[in-house]
Amino acid sequence: MPLHLPPSVKNWTSLAGAMIALVSLFMAIFLFVVTALLGAQAAYLGLVVFILLPSVMILGLLLIPIGMFLKVRRERQEGSRPETGWPRIDLNEPHHRHAAFIFVIGTAVLLLVSAVGSYEAFHFTESVPFCGTLCHTVMEPEYVAHQESPHARVACVGCHVGPGVDWYVRSKLSGMYQVYAVLANVYPRPIPTPIENLRPARDVCEQCHWPQKFYAYTYRTESHFLADEANTRWDIGLTMKVGAPHAAVGFEEGIHWHINPQVQIDYHALDERREEINWVRYTNLETGEVKIYRNPAYPQAEEEPGETRTMDCIDCHNRPSHRYLPPSHFINQAMARGEIPAGLPWIKAVAVPLCGEEYESLEEANAALRQGITDFYQENHPQLLVQRAAEIEAAVTGLQEVYRRNVFPYMRARWSAYPEHIGHLVFNGCFRCHIEGFATEAGEPIQTDCAICHLISSQGTAGQVETAPLGETLQFRHPTDVGEAWREVPCADCHDGLLP
Ligand code: HEC
Ligand code: HEC
Ligand code: HEC
Ligand code: HEC
Ligand code: HEC
Ligand code: HEC
Repeated sequence: MPLHLPPSVKNWTSLAGAMIALVSLFMAIFLFVVTALLGAQAAYLGLVVFILLPSVMILGLLLIPIGMFLKVRRERQEGSRPETGWPRIDLNEPHHRHAAFIFVIGTAVLLLVSAVGSYEAFHFTESVPFCGTLCHTVMEPEYVAHQESPHARVACVGCHVGPGVDWYVRSKLSGMYQVYAVLANVYPRPIPTPIENLRPARDVCEQCHWPQKFYAYTYRTESHFLADEANTRWDIGLTMKVGAPHAAVGFEEGIHWHINPQVQIDYHALDERREEINWVRYTNLETGEVKIYRNPAYPQAEEEPGETRTMDCIDCHNRPSHRYLPPSHFINQAMARGEIPAGLPWIKAVAVPLCGEEYESLEEANAALRQGITDFYQENHPQLLVQRAAEIEAAVTGLQEVYRRNVFPYMRARWSAYPEHIGHLVFNGCFRCHIEGFATEAGEPIQTDCAICHLISSQGTAGQVETAPLGETLQFRHPTDVGEAWREVPCADCHDGLLP
């Protein structure tokens, strides 16, 4: 049966549009089937299948009526077609019938394909490869850190968008600006935090974790290596008082007391990084009791810059998924794992400062790390360069590997750009509030005793570790002799992440 179509369709614009639409539709389906069969998770292919090709197809489809309209208008102007107002559709006319037929079938097929397509496109734009690898260099630090975090299987959108349509739309709108920023190369390096419009923890973290959940004491142990010839190993085991000692007590005490549903803690930070806290307000939501603690380091002022916040998960867990460890820590870990040979004399002392330099690119960093280590042994212990060649090589590659996972020269993402608030060694973290003098007017202090947050359950050099009886704490012994300084000044005053 010959196909009759309205004569107005017969123009080059409509024809080109139809070709474009058909070709891109078939390409999209073909690529979709190929990716589905291969199970490939390639972000760029997804971009082509779900966004680029469908856009081209819609453009092609639009060209068809545009071409028809232009042709009709031209014919009217030339006078070869009468002015008839709205077109008349008569299904007894083969032209009209066939056109209507194609339109109805075409629309039905397209709706079906686009239903599947938009479902897949939705998933694709919510996927970790889309967020983490599409703008490869820009998101590399967050992506790499995320893959190593306890949240490696939680999608980026699980924390950055969360449930609900409004945040989905908001995220796509701000995503459009971000695409522009990347294309126009106007994005900031490093990406600034705290993220201004981060969705509140109540809506995201509490989807999976919730404040009412009881956490028991946990035991964590960390190996430290000193910057001496033997890289002396010093282990510290802490019993973290996340919750109360017994489940039956619930929330009355422990670290998660701050998020106890019965209390509300508000605080005021003077700086953007929320490191300088000048007052804290405690409100007991059941009794209505209010206490205000003030930091003597910042005199009270009428007009205070900064922001007031109600404390939530992010005020301590601000790096749940993107933790960039400082060199002292990532080198300790690599040595504990054996990636950097802990038996190689002086390696801790050499490696840490090398990682503190700022490099322009990873290639430059890799070369400098190799050079720095070789130069050190060349100058100070040339005999080791020969005797321990294999270990020195292992140290170089081991160091390059941990460096790559924690410092991102191009985006300038490194520990010092992103303070972590959970501890107190390298950043003040808990010691932003838990310091001497931070008290109410009545003189009631915020507690500073080491044992309110953790028991020191074990400490000492390997082989000579002293341990505390269960439920008791040891008196802290600083691994090297710094006198009473560790008691008198915040740890972070000396520990900047680069103290070997
Ligand atoms: C467990 C929750 C969680 C997941 C999963 C997560 N993030 Fe984040 N992300 C955060 C938090 C919390 C911050 C820090 C917010 C702040 O300090 O204001 C953050 C910060 C960021 C920042 C700002 C720069 C920085 O390094 O702090 C970027 C960019 C980012 N995330 C991208 C991603 C990408 C891409 C993924 C997926 C590969 C991802 N996030 C997965 C919680 C998460
Ligand atoms: C989609 C679910 C999900 C969301 C949303 C989520 N988490 Fe998690 N979180 C997990 C899972 C799963 C684990 C790993 C549990 C395990 O290993 O036993 C985890 C572990 C943790 C841990 C323990 C880390 C460790 O070292 O064991 C912390 C702390 C944490 N999450 C904080 C957060 C914070 C803060 C947020 C909000 C920014 C958040 N989570 C959002 C699922 C989630
Ligand atoms: C006066 C400066 C100073 C203060 C304050 C200080 N430290 Fe240290 N700390 C040092 C020095 C110096 C070293 C030795 C570095 C080396 O030889 O490796 C060190 C080493 C350490 C190490 C092992 C080294 C490593 O890289 O893992 C730990 C753990 C440590 N200190 C904990 C603390 C804690 C906890 C506090 C606060 C309660 C604190 N320090 C306060 C100066 C200080
Ligand atoms: C914004 C200020 C602030 C920050 C930051 C902060 N706290 Fe607190 N914390 C308080 C106040 C206020 C109290 C109530 C006074 C008190 O008991 O010392 C408190 C009480 C506590 C208590 C005692 C709860 C009980 O058993 O009665 C623990 C434990 C604690 N905090 C741990 C931490 C840890 C760990 C961190 C860091 C991860 C931290 N805090 C960070 C303000 C803060
Ligand atoms: C006052 C600071 C603070 C606040 C606020 C806070 N946490 Fe924690 N949380 C901690 C500390 C400290 C630990 C223990 C970390 C460690 O073991 O090194 C911890 C541990 C955890 C763990 C692991 C517990 C385990 O036993 O494995 C989870 C999960 C967690 N927090 C989730 C949350 C969530 C969700 C919120 C918000 C509803 C929250 N935290 C609020 C300080 C805090
Ligand atoms: C307000 C709560 C709080 C107080 C008070 C506190 N700490 Fe901590 N401390 C923490 C938290 C939380 C961590 C764990 C950080 C993490 O999960 O990375 C920690 C970690 C440590 C570590 C291990 C550091 C590492 O990187 O392995 C040492 C050592 C330590 N504390 C010593 C002390 C000493 C000594 C005191 C008393 C001067 C003290 N702490 C007081 C909350 C506290």
